[in-house]
Amino acid sequence: MTSETQQILDMEKPKANPLKSMDHWEDDLLERYPDPETSKEKSEFRNYVDSDRDATVREFYQLNHKFQTYDFVCEKEKEFLAFNKREMSIWDALEFLNTLVDDSDPDIDLDQLQHLMQTSEAIRKDGHPDWFVLTGFLHDLGKVLCLFGEPQWAVVGDTFPVGCQFSDKIVYPDFFSSNPDSTHEVYSTKLGVYKEHCGLDQVKMSWGHDEYLYQIVKDYLPKPALYMIRYHSFYAQHREGAYDFLLNDEDREYFKWVKAFNPYDLYSKAPEPPNVKELKPYYEDLIAKYLPETLRF
Ligand SMILES: [Fe+2]
Ligand SMILES: [Fe+2]
Repeated sequence: MTSETQQILDMEKPKANPLKSMDHWEDDLLERYPDPETSKEKSEFRNYVDSDRDATVREFYQLNHKFQTYDFVCEKEKEFLAFNKREMSIWDALEFLNTLVDDSDPDIDLDQLQHLMQTSEAIRKDGHPDWFVLTGFLHDLGKVLCLFGEPQWAVVGDTFPVGCQFSDKIVYPDFFSSNPDSTHEVYSTKLGVYKEHCGLDQVKMSWGHDEYLYQIVKDYLPKPALYMIRYHSFYAQHREGAYDFLLNDEDREYFKWVKAFNPYDLYSKAPEPPNVKELKPYYEDLIAKYLPETLRF
């Protein structure tokens, strides 16, 4: 990290983690993309939306959009794709993730493991292949970045390409005006450093839990699973189609899976926590079928 970026981060420190709970970003997604299957009226839904949370989500995106630059992503890749932080089994990583304490209300908010299990159980209930179930179970594991000291805005939130113009289809697009890349002579152009339809594999995404987990598991899971993990927070594309000009044929094909995954991520939350103890043996077997005993983080 450049000393200048560090200085800015230090200045912002009291505000580095505005969200009381990382899940508040996901609750906000539910407001932006409500479940079309439920008959819940908007007014009924609004009952549990507090304006306090809306304000912290705005603050969160202000930081995210300001600091997620092309150079920042390069620095984070250098730092985290060396995988020299910890070696853990998936189950250890899940338990590690669950030590993440934030100010959320334990009576109404599920912990991270419960969210993962509700997602994967909903996928299992619909009869999907076991690697799809496993993907649901793992998809947010990259959030362990928070436990390595990363600020919320570099772990969660919608992801988007860096190195080319920020789309106005990204949530809170106005906040990009404080991102230095938005006036950079190359990065501010529509294609930036990319070629039309070059394929997303060539495109750097804003840094967060999606890309990090993808890099950890990329050798072990089928391609649709990897797309789901890598792009599940790329709402500007899988919901808005804002970056069609960067996609190649393969991306278009596999984004069907990203889209299929998204409702499980967003709409499987239920007040009833899953029975983790009872389900654990099934997931241990599933993990062992696809992944090595330990992975490097
Ligand atoms: Fe996620
Ligand atoms: Fe999730």
